[in-house]
Amino acid sequence: MKPAGVRIAQIADLHFGRDVPAVAETLLEELREVRPTLIAVCGDLTQTAAEAEFQAASAFLDKLPAPSLIVPGNHDLPGWRFWTRFTRPWRRWRRHIASDPYGAVTYETDGLIAVGVNTARRWTFHHDWSRGRINMRQLTAIGEAFDEAPRDDLRVVIAHHPFLLTDAVRGRGLVGRSSLALRHLRHRADLLLGGHIHLAYSGIVDGLVVSQCGTAVSNRLKGEPNSYNLIDATGDRVTVAIRRWGDDRFETHESTEYARDGHEWSIPGAPAG
Ligand SMILES: [Fe+2]
Ligand SMILES: [Fe+2]
Repeated sequence: MKPAGVRIAQIADLHFGRDVPAVAETLLEELREVRPTLIAVCGDLTQTAAEAEFQAASAFLDKLPAPSLIVPGNHDLPGWRFWTRFTRPWRRWRRHIASDPYGAVTYETDGLIAVGVNTARRWTFHHDWSRGRINMRQLTAIGEAFDEAPRDDLRVVIAHHPFLLTDAVRGRGLVGRSSLALRHLRHRADLLLGGHIHLAYSGIVDGLVVSQCGTAVSNRLKGEPNSYNLIDATGDRVTVAIRRWGDDRFETHESTEYARDGHEWSIPGAPAG
């Protein structure tokens, strides 16, 4: 089932503590079958950042059958435990997940460079602290990694908060400083992967492909089933397939093809907009 190019399995919003074990087990089985080049884990591994939830998330991640790149989400911060939230926000993340919560994490292989950044913040100016933000230091790190990679590599940014919203979820808010990020990443990046909304969709913003997946294995559904996205890239084409949970397995619900000219993306056959 593995194609000639790069294959990314994108999973998000696992929310251990609210996980559905049968879905999690089936997802692992499917990931073994589809043999991705990389598994992008787009944050919210836990529900309340509790010790037991991190242990369960870590045990799940240990079973992933391919290299993974993991970034945190807002639920991976101590929610109302303010003292810990402000003084040691990533203590359990560091203990159980181990990836650096402040720097950019990078995965590179033939034809692919992926950089993950943490967009969750211990506080924000907005009253809704679940909102995230990307900063200039992170954008610089992403840009430098991409600029050093071979020109035609697929360049992927992995984050938790979204760079594109649909009309139905406009009120949720984009990742903070998304306009700055898009200016910085245009013509330099290809794909922006996110979660947080618990709805699956893909689209184009400023010439970049955005892929959002639903909650992979939790019962925190927002009107649609569990899902993950399977992204296949060959040459200058990318297909984002949304794999939704059916009765007892994942099935392709929707598949969208994108094509690039340089690092500028469009949907083949769609009117220029
Ligand atoms: Fe979430
Ligand atoms: Fe979230």
